[in-house]
Amino acid sequence: MAEKEMENIISLAKRRGFVFQGSDIYGGMAGMYDFGPYGVELLNNLKRAWWKEHVQRREDFVGLDSSIFKDPRVWEASGHTSGFSDPLSECKNCNTRIRVDKELEKIGVAADEKMSEEEINALFEEHKDKIKCPSCGKKDFSLARAFNLLVKTNMGNFAGEDAEVVYLPGEASQGIYLNFKNIVDSTRAKVPFGIAQIGKAFRNEISPRNFLFRTRELEQADTQYFVRPNENKEKYEEIKRDRFNWYVKMGIREENLRWKQHDNLVFYASDAWDIEYNFPSYGFDELEGIHDRTDYDLSQHSKFSGVDLSYVDPQTGEKYIPWILETSVGLGRMFLAFLSDAYTEDEIGGEKRTVLKLSKELAPIKVAVFPLLKNKPDLVAKAREVFDMLKEDMMCEFDDNGNIGKRYRRQDEIGTPHCVTIDFDTLEDDTVTVRDRDTGEQERVKITELVNHLR
Ligand code: GAP
Repeated sequence: MAEKEMENIISLAKRRGFVFQGSDIYGGMAGMYDFGPYGVELLNNLKRAWWKEHVQRREDFVGLDSSIFKDPRVWEASGHTSGFSDPLSECKNCNTRIRVDKELEKIGVAADEKMSEEEINALFEEHKDKIKCPSCGKKDFSLARAFNLLVKTNMGNFAGEDAEVVYLPGEASQGIYLNFKNIVDSTRAKVPFGIAQIGKAFRNEISPRNFLFRTRELEQADTQYFVRPNENKEKYEEIKRDRFNWYVKMGIREENLRWKQHDNLVFYASDAWDIEYNFPSYGFDELEGIHDRTDYDLSQHSKFSGVDLSYVDPQTGEKYIPWILETSVGLGRMFLAFLSDAYTEDEIGGEKRTVLKLSKELAPIKVAVFPLLKNKPDLVAKAREVFDMLKEDMMCEFDDNGNIGKRYRRQDEIGTPHCVTIDFDTLEDDTVTVRDRDTGEQERVKITELVNHLR
């Protein structure tokens, strides 16, 4: 099998309508991507599978969808207005900006994003002679400055200075903390329990890169699990295990996943691990973060809002601020990991092909229906009848364009698990040919049994 290259995966994503560059016709906007017709199906299937795992199947979880805009004090309480930043330096020759921590990493010097400006500049000074400007190749840089990642905008119908400054969410999870009390007061949720949410986040990433890996607009699938203080350790291990196993269950090869523990923790976290995925061409990098956040979030919001977010145990009357165990993954990164893992170049019947070996649950189109010949009205009418029957149950596609071989190749490239062909025998005995994407094997199935067979 040819080695997987990200370039080929990106090319397939565009060619087959999975992902387009944002604002493409205006030359493209850095760090923005649009999900095309098959992309939005795959994205929705990933969200549905994640939601099923964390809400539908779980008695100790509830779901949430909180608003994008929040009181600006939320981002002060969370620490984002002061601490959510990247260290940037500018090339004195051509004004290109570089992320100093990432450039240091590239030459094997560990720099932590939580380092102070002084600390990072001391490291930068020491290694400056090994760092070249990616645009002009010179080695003359300004001092590094912290660059805040929050995206600011204005709210209200006032011009200029009267307009209220508001922030787009730097992370989706804050909406969960703000609604902890609402959920406890309005549902039967009792600690320990979790809240799950899929929400948008925006970051002024200085160097959006690697396709969907680092974007400026992202969607995060988050769970926040509330536990009694100091009852975090065992649950944390269980949550970590469950998240890792979910990827394997959904079809990611286990050898492409690994754990990485954070060396430098933010001051409030008691432990933090990443699940890393082996992205083609890029190598292992963070896919999902799993963080043991102590009582920081609810304590901060109690302090800044003036509302006591303590929990009172209904059985014992004990009062405490719950500790939080968080899982957070960007859906774009998740999408890229699943697309990469499924991307396969192989040979079938002596012919080379590209195939997306996505699980049936994730495949954008579940079945494609073909009349054998386009110019035989009886075959086309029968194929339409089968298509109309199947589309009530699953995402289907009708295709009568080109020879059958070409139609199979096209469906292989978008990962369709089954193709159903209506031929002359169908008109005699009401059976169709069902072809399997992975093996290419075909079998005859009665139309009356088709829905059950495909399920
Ligand atoms: N609430 C915790 C939080 O936001 P994070 O480690 O900054 O933590 C969590 O982000 C996840 O969100 C990451 O593991 C990654 O999957 C995704 N993510 C973060 N920044 C991203 C970006 N610029 N582009 C795409 N995904 C991103």
